[in-house]
Amino acid sequence: MSSYFIVHPSSSLSGETKVPGDKSISHRSVLFASLAQGKTTIDNWLAAGDTEATLAAMKQLGIAIKREGLHHLEIEGGKLQASSDSINLRHAGTGMRLLAGILAGQDFPSVLDGSEQLRKRPMKRIIDPLLLMGAKIESPEQKAPLHISPSSLQGISYTLPMASAQVKSAVLLAGLFAQGVTEVIEPGPSRDHTENMLKAMGANIEVTGNHVRLTPGQPLQAIDIKVPGDISSAAFIIVAALITPESDVTIHQVNVNPRRTGILDVLLQMGANIKLTPSEEQAGEPTADIRVRSSSLQGVAIKGDIVVRMIDEFPILMVAALHTNGVTTLEGAKELRVKETDRLAVMTSELKKMGVKITETPDGFSIPGNQKLLGAKVDGHDDHRIAMSLAVAGLVACGQTLIEQASCSADSFPDYAKTMTKLKAEIGECKK
Ligand code: S3P
Repeated sequence: MSSYFIVHPSSSLSGETKVPGDKSISHRSVLFASLAQGKTTIDNWLAAGDTEATLAAMKQLGIAIKREGLHHLEIEGGKLQASSDSINLRHAGTGMRLLAGILAGQDFPSVLDGSEQLRKRPMKRIIDPLLLMGAKIESPEQKAPLHISPSSLQGISYTLPMASAQVKSAVLLAGLFAQGVTEVIEPGPSRDHTENMLKAMGANIEVTGNHVRLTPGQPLQAIDIKVPGDISSAAFIIVAALITPESDVTIHQVNVNPRRTGILDVLLQMGANIKLTPSEEQAGEPTADIRVRSSSLQGVAIKGDIVVRMIDEFPILMVAALHTNGVTTLEGAKELRVKETDRLAVMTSELKKMGVKITETPDGFSIPGNQKLLGAKVDGHDDHRIAMSLAVAGLVACGQTLIEQASCSADSFPDYAKTMTKLKAEIGECKK
Protein backbone atom coordinates (compact mmCIF):
# COMPACT_ATOMS: atom_id res chain seq x y z
CA MET A 1 0.00 0.00 0.00
CA SER A 2 1.38 3.44 -0.86
CA SER A 3 0.34 6.68 0.73
CA TYR A 4 0.34 10.34 -0.13
CA PHE A 5 0.15 13.58 1.81
CA ILE A 6 -2.46 16.25 1.08
CA VAL A 7 -1.35 19.60 2.48
CA HIS A 8 -3.19 22.90 2.83
CA PRO A 9 -1.76 26.30 3.75
CA SER A 10 -1.58 26.61 7.52
CA SER A 11 -0.69 29.21 10.10
CA SER A 12 -0.40 29.41 13.87
CA LEU A 13 1.15 26.01 14.50
CA SER A 14 1.09 25.58 18.24
CA GLY A 15 1.45 23.09 21.03
CA GLU A 16 3.94 20.74 22.60
CA THR A 17 5.10 17.45 21.17
CA LYS A 18 7.77 14.77 21.14
CA VAL A 19 9.45 13.23 18.13
CA PRO A 20 10.28 9.53 17.74
CA GLY A 21 13.55 8.08 19.03
CA ASP A 22 16.76 8.88 17.17
CA LYS A 23 17.19 6.62 14.14
CA SER A 24 21.01 6.41 14.27
CA ILE A 25 20.98 5.53 17.98
CA SER A 26 18.12 3.03 17.54
CA HIS A 27 20.04 1.10 14.84
CA ARG A 28 23.19 1.08 16.95
CA SER A 29 21.40 0.05 20.15
CA VAL A 30 20.12 -3.15 18.51
CA LEU A 31 23.37 -3.99 16.73
CA PHE A 32 25.65 -3.39 19.70
CA ALA A 33 23.31 -4.99 22.27
CA SER A 34 23.38 -8.12 20.11
CA LEU A 35 27.16 -8.28 20.60
CA ALA A 36 27.19 -7.41 24.31
CA GLN A 37 27.31 -9.81 27.26
CA GLY A 38 24.06 -9.74 29.27
CA LYS A 39 20.66 -8.14 28.79
CA THR A 40 20.45 -4.66 27.28
CA THR A 41 17.16 -2.81 27.75
CA ILE A 42 16.20 -0.16 25.23
CA ASP A 43 13.44 2.40 25.81
CA ASN A 44 11.91 4.85 23.35
CA TRP A 45 13.31 2.75 20.51
CA LEU A 46 12.33 4.00 17.05
CA ALA A 47 9.85 1.53 15.55
CA ALA A 48 10.14 2.58 11.91
CA GLY A 49 10.85 0.95 8.55
CA ASP A 50 14.64 1.29 8.64
CA THR A 51 15.19 0.24 12.24
CA GLU A 52 12.70 -2.65 12.04
CA ALA A 53 14.86 -4.01 9.19
CA THR A 54 17.93 -3.95 11.45
CA LEU A 55 15.95 -5.59 14.27
CA ALA A 56 14.73 -8.36 11.96
CA ALA A 57 18.31 -8.88 10.72
CA MET A 58 19.60 -9.50 14.25
CA LYS A 59 16.76 -11.94 14.96
CA GLN A 60 17.69 -13.74 11.76
CA LEU A 61 21.26 -13.94 13.09
CA GLY A 62 19.99 -15.83 16.15
CA ILE A 63 19.70 -13.03 18.73
CA ALA A 64 16.89 -13.34 21.31
CA ILE A 65 14.87 -10.13 21.39
CA LYS A 66 11.92 -9.56 23.70
CA ARG A 67 9.60 -6.71 22.87
CA GLU A 68 6.98 -5.00 25.00
CA GLY A 69 4.82 -2.69 22.92
CA LEU A 70 6.55 -1.02 20.02
CA HIS A 71 9.28 0.94 21.76
CA HIS A 72 10.71 -1.22 24.56
CA LEU A 73 13.24 -3.96 23.72
CA GLU A 74 15.24 -6.42 25.80
CA ILE A 75 18.15 -7.96 23.97
CA GLU A 76 20.19 -10.90 25.24
CA GLY A 77 23.52 -10.51 23.42
CA GLY A 78 25.64 -13.43 22.41
CA LYS A 79 27.30 -15.22 19.54
CA LEU A 80 25.71 -14.52 16.17
CA GLN A 81 24.50 -17.56 14.23
CA ALA A 82 24.77 -18.08 10.47
CA SER A 83 21.63 -17.50 8.43
CA SER A 84 21.02 -19.66 5.38
CA ASP A 85 18.90 -16.90 3.81
CA SER A 86 20.17 -13.54 2.70
CA ILE A 87 19.52 -10.69 5.14
CA ASN A 88 17.24 -7.96 3.77
CA LEU A 89 17.96 -4.48 5.14
CA ARG A 90 15.22 -2.93 2.93
CA HIS A 91 15.97 0.86 2.63
CA ALA A 92 18.37 0.99 5.60
CA GLY A 93 21.82 2.19 4.53
CA THR A 94 22.95 2.50 8.16
CA GLY A 95 21.79 -1.04 8.92
CA MET A 96 23.60 -2.49 5.92
CA ARG A 97 26.89 -0.63 6.30
CA LEU A 98 27.24 -1.19 10.06
CA LEU A 99 26.19 -4.82 9.87
CA ALA A 100 28.72 -5.43 7.07
CA GLY A 101 31.48 -4.37 9.49
CA ILE A 102 30.20 -6.80 12.12
CA LEU A 103 29.68 -9.72 9.75
CA ALA A 104 33.12 -9.29 8.14
CA GLY A 105 34.56 -10.48 11.46
CA GLN A 106 32.36 -13.58 11.98
CA ASP A 107 33.35 -17.20 11.36
CA PHE A 108 30.40 -17.86 9.02
CA PRO A 109 29.37 -16.51 5.61
CA SER A 110 26.46 -14.14 5.05
CA VAL A 111 24.71 -12.21 2.33
CA LEU A 112 23.41 -8.66 2.89
CA ASP A 113 20.77 -7.36 0.53
CA GLY A 114 18.16 -4.61 0.39
CA SER A 115 15.49 -2.83 -1.62
CA GLU A 116 16.05 -1.68 -5.21
CA GLN A 117 16.80 1.74 -3.73
CA LEU A 118 19.48 0.39 -1.36
CA ARG A 119 20.99 -1.77 -4.15
CA LYS A 120 21.80 1.46 -6.02
CA ARG A 121 23.72 3.06 -3.14
CA PRO A 122 27.55 2.97 -3.01
CA MET A 123 29.12 0.23 -0.87
CA LYS A 124 32.70 0.65 -2.16
CA ARG A 125 33.21 3.13 0.67
CA ILE A 126 32.90 0.31 3.24
CA ILE A 127 34.21 -2.53 1.07
CA ASP A 128 37.58 -0.78 0.49
CA PRO A 129 38.61 -0.43 4.16
CA LEU A 130 37.13 -3.83 5.12
CA LEU A 131 39.20 -5.51 2.36
CA LEU A 132 42.29 -3.70 3.71
CA MET A 133 41.52 -5.34 7.07
CA GLY A 134 41.50 -8.75 5.37
CA ALA A 135 37.74 -9.18 4.89
CA LYS A 136 36.39 -11.23 2.00
CA ILE A 137 33.49 -9.46 0.30
CA GLU A 138 32.12 -10.02 -3.18
CA SER A 139 29.46 -7.83 -4.76
CA PRO A 140 28.16 -6.78 -8.17
CA GLU A 141 29.82 -3.41 -8.98
CA GLN A 142 30.54 -2.85 -5.29
CA LYS A 143 26.86 -2.52 -4.45
CA ALA A 144 24.43 -4.78 -2.60
CA PRO A 145 24.01 -7.72 -2.42
CA LEU A 146 27.23 -8.14 -0.44
CA HIS A 147 28.54 -11.72 -0.13
CA ILE A 148 30.71 -11.85 2.97
CA SER A 149 32.94 -14.89 3.70
CA PRO A 150 34.72 -15.66 6.97
CA SER A 151 38.28 -14.37 7.31
CA SER A 152 40.63 -13.17 10.01
CA LEU A 153 40.85 -9.40 10.29
CA GLN A 154 43.79 -7.11 11.11
CA GLY A 155 43.44 -3.65 12.60
CA ILE A 156 44.30 -0.79 10.23
CA SER A 157 44.85 2.93 10.33
CA TYR A 158 42.38 4.36 7.82
CA THR A 159 41.85 7.90 6.63
CA LEU A 160 38.29 8.21 5.38
CA PRO A 161 37.93 9.78 1.93
CA MET A 162 34.68 11.45 3.11
CA ALA A 163 33.25 12.39 6.52
CA SER A 164 30.82 9.50 7.06
CA ALA A 165 29.64 8.01 10.32
CA GLN A 166 28.50 4.88 8.53
CA VAL A 167 31.93 4.17 7.07
CA LYS A 168 33.69 5.09 10.33
CA SER A 169 31.34 2.76 12.22
CA ALA A 170 31.75 -0.15 9.80
CA VAL A 171 35.54 0.00 10.24
CA LEU A 172 35.36 0.34 14.04
CA LEU A 173 32.89 -2.56 14.34
CA ALA A 174 35.14 -4.79 12.21
CA GLY A 175 37.94 -3.59 14.50
CA LEU A 176 36.19 -5.24 17.47
CA PHE A 177 36.89 -8.61 15.79
CA ALA A 178 40.39 -7.79 14.46
CA GLN A 179 43.91 -8.44 15.71
CA GLY A 180 45.54 -5.22 16.87
CA VAL A 181 44.48 -1.60 17.00
CA THR A 182 42.10 0.03 14.48
CA GLU A 183 42.35 3.76 13.87
CA VAL A 184 40.02 5.93 11.84
CA ILE A 185 40.81 9.50 10.85
CA GLU A 186 37.99 11.46 9.23
CA PRO A 187 38.00 14.75 7.35
CA GLY A 188 35.08 16.21 9.33
CA PRO A 189 33.08 15.73 12.53
CA SER A 190 30.50 13.07 11.54
CA ARG A 191 28.06 11.84 14.18
CA ASP A 192 29.78 9.99 17.03
CA HIS A 193 27.01 7.74 18.40
CA THR A 194 29.08 4.60 17.69
CA GLU A 195 32.02 5.88 19.70
CA ASN A 196 29.74 7.01 22.58
CA MET A 197 27.78 3.77 22.78
CA LEU A 198 30.77 1.43 22.39
CA LYS A 199 32.56 3.36 25.15
CA ALA A 200 29.50 3.10 27.43
CA MET A 201 29.51 -0.67 26.78
CA GLY A 202 33.13 -0.93 27.92
CA ALA A 203 35.06 -0.89 24.63
CA ASN A 204 38.57 0.51 24.75
CA ILE A 205 38.02 3.47 22.45
CA GLU A 206 39.81 6.82 22.49
CA VAL A 207 38.65 9.88 20.59
CA THR A 208 40.87 12.86 19.88
CA GLY A 209 39.19 15.36 17.57
CA ASN A 210 38.47 13.53 14.31
CA HIS A 211 40.79 10.63 15.22
CA VAL A 212 39.31 7.46 16.76
CA ARG A 213 41.42 4.58 18.11
CA LEU A 214 39.92 1.23 19.11
CA THR A 215 41.89 -1.48 20.92
CA PRO A 216 39.96 -4.76 20.80
CA GLY A 217 39.83 -7.37 23.55
CA GLN A 218 37.30 -5.85 25.98
CA PRO A 219 34.01 -7.73 25.59
CA LEU A 220 31.04 -5.36 25.28
CA GLN A 221 28.76 -5.27 28.34
CA ALA A 222 24.98 -4.80 28.31
CA ILE A 223 23.69 -1.39 29.41
CA ASP A 224 20.31 0.34 29.75
CA ILE A 225 19.59 2.73 26.91
CA LYS A 226 16.89 5.41 26.64
CA VAL A 227 16.89 6.69 23.08
CA PRO A 228 16.54 10.49 22.86
CA GLY A 229 14.25 12.21 20.31
CA ASP A 230 15.63 12.51 16.78
CA ILE A 231 16.74 16.02 15.83
CA SER A 232 16.46 15.03 12.17
CA SER A 233 12.72 14.43 12.70
CA ALA A 234 12.37 17.54 14.88
CA ALA A 235 13.85 19.61 12.02
CA PHE A 236 10.61 19.32 9.99
CA ILE A 237 8.57 20.72 12.88
CA ILE A 238 11.15 23.42 13.63
CA VAL A 239 11.18 24.74 10.05
CA ALA A 240 7.38 24.45 9.78
CA ALA A 241 6.98 26.62 12.92
CA LEU A 242 9.57 29.15 11.73
CA ILE A 243 8.02 29.80 8.33
CA THR A 244 4.29 29.69 9.16
CA PRO A 245 2.92 32.92 10.70
CA GLU A 246 2.18 33.22 14.43
CA SER A 247 3.51 29.80 15.39
CA ASP A 248 4.86 28.71 18.76
CA VAL A 249 5.82 25.07 19.19
CA THR A 250 7.88 23.16 21.76
CA ILE A 251 9.48 19.78 21.08
CA HIS A 252 10.56 17.86 24.17
CA GLN A 253 13.71 15.81 24.81
CA VAL A 254 15.46 16.13 21.48
CA ASN A 255 19.01 14.85 21.07
CA VAL A 256 21.31 17.88 20.85
CA ASN A 257 24.62 16.07 20.43
CA PRO A 258 26.87 18.81 18.97
CA ARG A 259 27.64 16.60 15.96
CA ARG A 260 23.95 16.69 15.04
CA THR A 261 23.03 20.31 15.74
CA GLY A 262 24.32 21.94 12.56
CA ILE A 263 20.70 22.63 11.59
CA LEU A 264 20.10 24.62 14.79
CA ASP A 265 23.33 26.59 14.33
CA VAL A 266 22.42 27.50 10.75
CA LEU A 267 18.83 28.45 11.61
CA LEU A 268 20.04 30.58 14.54
CA GLN A 269 22.50 32.28 12.20
CA MET A 270 19.54 32.97 9.89
CA GLY A 271 17.85 34.76 12.80
CA ALA A 272 15.47 32.00 13.94
CA ASN A 273 13.71 32.40 17.28
CA ILE A 274 14.74 29.06 18.80
CA LYS A 275 15.29 28.54 22.53
CA LEU A 276 16.84 25.42 24.04
CA THR A 277 16.18 24.30 27.62
CA PRO A 278 18.45 21.41 28.59
CA SER A 279 16.64 18.25 29.74
CA GLU A 280 17.98 14.95 31.13
CA GLU A 281 20.91 13.19 29.42
CA GLN A 282 19.78 10.05 27.54
CA ALA A 283 22.03 7.24 26.26
CA GLY A 284 25.03 9.46 27.11
CA GLU A 285 23.69 12.14 24.73
CA PRO A 286 22.63 15.67 25.76
CA THR A 287 18.93 16.46 25.20
CA ALA A 288 16.93 19.67 25.25
CA ASP A 289 13.39 20.97 24.91
CA ILE A 290 13.31 23.13 21.79
CA ARG A 291 10.88 26.08 21.60
CA VAL A 292 10.42 27.61 18.16
CA ARG A 293 8.47 30.71 17.14
CA SER A 294 7.75 32.17 13.69
CA SER A 295 10.72 34.22 12.58
CA SER A 296 11.91 36.46 9.84
CA LEU A 297 14.97 34.69 8.38
CA GLN A 298 18.07 35.94 6.56
CA GLY A 299 19.94 34.03 3.83
CA VAL A 300 23.30 32.50 4.82
CA ALA A 301 26.31 30.82 3.18
CA ILE A 302 26.81 27.23 4.37
CA LYS A 303 30.11 25.41 3.91
CA GLY A 304 32.86 23.60 5.83
CA ASP A 305 32.54 21.34 8.89
CA ILE A 306 28.93 22.32 9.57
CA VAL A 307 27.79 20.43 6.45
CA VAL A 308 28.35 16.97 7.98
CA ARG A 309 26.75 18.13 11.25
CA MET A 310 23.44 18.61 9.40
CA ILE A 311 23.86 16.22 6.50
CA ASP A 312 20.29 14.86 6.68
CA GLU A 313 18.66 18.27 7.13
CA PHE A 314 19.36 19.90 3.75
CA PRO A 315 16.03 18.98 2.14
CA ILE A 316 14.15 20.83 4.91
CA LEU A 317 16.73 23.63 5.03
CA MET A 318 16.05 24.23 1.33
CA VAL A 319 12.41 24.87 2.22
CA ALA A 320 13.45 27.38 4.93
CA ALA A 321 15.82 29.08 2.46
CA LEU A 322 12.89 30.00 0.18
CA HIS A 323 11.51 32.14 3.04
CA THR A 324 14.50 34.33 3.83
CA ASN A 325 15.54 37.83 2.90
CA GLY A 326 18.65 37.35 0.80
CA VAL A 327 20.22 34.29 -0.75
CA THR A 328 21.18 30.97 0.88
CA THR A 329 24.08 29.04 -0.63
CA LEU A 330 25.55 25.60 0.10
CA GLU A 331 28.99 24.27 -0.89
CA GLY A 332 30.77 21.00 -0.14
CA ALA A 333 27.73 18.71 0.12
CA LYS A 334 28.16 16.27 -2.74
CA GLU A 335 27.40 13.45 -0.26
CA LEU A 336 23.76 14.53 -0.65
CA ARG A 337 23.82 12.94 -4.08
CA VAL A 338 24.24 9.41 -2.63
CA LYS A 339 21.54 9.36 0.06
CA GLU A 340 18.24 7.48 -0.43
CA THR A 341 17.97 9.69 -3.54
CA ASP A 342 20.15 12.39 -5.06
CA ARG A 343 18.69 14.90 -2.64
CA LEU A 344 20.11 18.00 -4.39
CA ALA A 345 18.57 17.02 -7.72
CA VAL A 346 15.29 15.71 -6.34
CA MET A 347 14.55 18.66 -4.03
CA THR A 348 15.47 21.12 -6.79
CA SER A 349 13.20 19.49 -9.36
CA GLU A 350 10.26 18.95 -6.96
CA LEU A 351 10.38 22.47 -5.50
CA LYS A 352 10.56 23.88 -9.04
CA LYS A 353 7.18 22.22 -9.66
CA MET A 354 5.93 24.61 -6.96
CA GLY A 355 7.07 27.55 -9.06
CA VAL A 356 10.31 28.57 -7.32
CA LYS A 357 13.82 29.40 -8.52
CA ILE A 358 16.76 27.29 -7.32
CA THR A 359 20.20 26.92 -8.86
CA GLU A 360 21.64 23.45 -8.29
CA THR A 361 25.45 23.19 -8.27
CA PRO A 362 27.61 20.03 -8.30
CA ASP A 363 27.96 20.14 -4.50
CA GLY A 364 25.18 22.40 -3.30
CA PHE A 365 22.73 25.10 -4.32
CA SER A 366 21.93 28.79 -4.41
CA ILE A 367 18.39 29.71 -3.31
CA PRO A 368 17.02 33.25 -3.44
CA GLY A 369 14.63 34.14 -0.63
CA ASN A 370 11.20 35.81 -0.59
CA GLN A 371 9.73 33.24 -2.97
CA LYS A 372 6.05 32.41 -3.37
CA LEU A 373 5.19 28.74 -3.59
CA LEU A 374 2.24 27.41 -5.56
CA GLY A 375 0.49 24.26 -4.44
CA ALA A 376 1.30 21.45 -6.87
CA LYS A 377 1.46 17.70 -7.35
CA VAL A 378 4.96 16.62 -6.29
CA ASP A 379 6.72 13.34 -5.69
CA GLY A 380 8.38 12.09 -2.50
CA HIS A 381 10.55 9.68 -4.56
CA ASP A 382 10.25 7.07 -1.82
CA ASP A 383 12.73 9.14 0.24
CA HIS A 384 11.38 9.96 3.71
CA ARG A 385 13.21 13.25 4.13
CA ILE A 386 12.09 14.48 0.71
CA ALA A 387 8.41 13.63 1.30
CA MET A 388 8.31 15.27 4.75
CA SER A 389 10.17 18.40 3.52
CA LEU A 390 7.77 18.85 0.61
CA ALA A 391 4.86 18.60 3.04
CA VAL A 392 6.32 21.54 5.01
CA ALA A 393 6.69 23.49 1.76
CA GLY A 394 2.97 22.85 1.15
CA LEU A 395 2.09 24.60 4.44
CA VAL A 396 3.19 27.95 3.01
CA ALA A 397 2.10 27.40 -0.61
CA CYS A 398 -0.90 28.97 -2.27
CA GLY A 399 -3.46 26.20 -2.79
CA GLN A 400 -3.31 22.49 -2.16
CA THR A 401 -0.14 20.39 -2.42
CA LEU A 402 -0.27 16.67 -3.09
CA ILE A 403 2.82 14.61 -2.30
CA GLU A 404 2.90 11.20 -3.94
CA GLN A 405 5.12 8.33 -2.77
CA ALA A 406 5.05 9.51 0.82
CA SER A 407 4.68 6.19 2.68
CA CYS A 408 8.48 6.29 3.05
CA SER A 409 7.98 8.83 5.87
CA ALA A 410 7.41 5.70 7.98
CA ASP A 411 11.11 4.84 7.47
CA SER A 412 12.00 7.35 10.19
CA PHE A 413 8.84 9.17 11.42
CA PRO A 414 5.78 6.87 11.23
CA ASP A 415 3.31 9.35 12.81
CA TYR A 416 4.55 12.41 10.95
CA ALA A 417 1.16 13.54 9.55
CA LYS A 418 -0.61 12.89 12.89
CA THR A 419 2.05 14.78 14.85
CA MET A 420 1.85 17.75 12.47
CA THR A 421 -1.95 17.72 12.60
CA LYS A 422 -1.90 17.87 16.42
CA LEU A 423 0.22 21.00 16.06
CA LYS A 424 -2.53 22.37 13.76
CA ALA A 425 -0.69 21.92 10.48
CA GLU A 426 -3.06 20.74 7.76
CA ILE A 427 -1.23 17.61 6.58
CA GLY A 428 -3.48 14.69 5.81
CA GLU A 429 -2.23 11.21 4.92
CA CYS A 430 -4.22 9.00 2.53
CA LYS A 431 -3.45 5.40 1.72
CA LYS A 432 -4.28 3.76 -1.58
C1 S3P B 1 24.04 7.93 9.59
C2 S3P B 1 25.04 8.64 8.97
C3 S3P B 1 24.83 9.53 7.82
C4 S3P B 1 23.37 9.92 7.69
C5 S3P B 1 22.46 8.74 7.83
C6 S3P B 1 22.62 8.07 9.18
C7 S3P B 1 24.37 7.02 10.70
O1 S3P B 1 25.23 8.87 6.64
O2 S3P B 1 23.16 10.54 6.44
O3 S3P B 1 21.11 9.13 7.69
O4 S3P B 1 23.47 6.62 11.45
O5 S3P B 1 25.56 6.72 10.85
P1 S3P B 1 26.77 8.90 6.15
O6 S3P B 1 27.60 8.24 7.15
O7 S3P B 1 26.75 8.15 4.85
O8 S3P B 1 27.09 10.35 5.95
